[in-house]
Amino acid sequence: MTETPFELLMACHARIRRYCGGLQALCEVEPGDPRIEATAQSCHRYFGEALHLHAQDEDSSLLPRLQGHLSAPQLEVARQLREQHGMLDSQTPGVLEALSQITGLSLAERRAVFEPYWTLLLAHIHLEEEWLFPSISKMSQEERGQIVVEIRARRTQDQQQAPQ
Ligand SMILES: [Fe+2]
Ligand SMILES: [Fe+2]
Repeated sequence: MTETPFELLMACHARIRRYCGGLQALCEVEPGDPRIEATAQSCHRYFGEALHLHAQDEDSSLLPRLQGHLSAPQLEVARQLREQHGMLDSQTPGVLEALSQITGLSLAERRAVFEPYWTLLLAHIHLEEEWLFPSISKMSQEERGQIVVEIRARRTQDQQQAPQ
């Protein structure tokens, strides 16, 4: 089965949307609900282990090869998206800490930590899908093949623990 970089990156975005949905659910389910711990653990695994692999896919594999195919406005958006990876990185530890202590936090306390994070993350992936991913089709077959190899290699290294 040959997957394309577009398919692999969009599969990551589907997981990002699913786990952002998990954070949103944690802000709505009343304390004491038995689903809380399992949801918090799966979100902790995803945001603690897998999300940074996806940012590396984009920063190290996609963007360097995509740059030559981007217009000036797209390059500016690419710069902003890279900056947002840094902003997300700086917010992630607080999200992980809140997920670890989830049962001790009120719904308002959870929302105060999670909402800015999911808001930024969902806007971020929407921008990528609108501004960058359509240009993947302009890259050569070889460039696309290299991206797929690199994306897979990142997961192989972390296969035992990373939920992709
Ligand atoms: Fe990104
Ligand atoms: Fe992305």
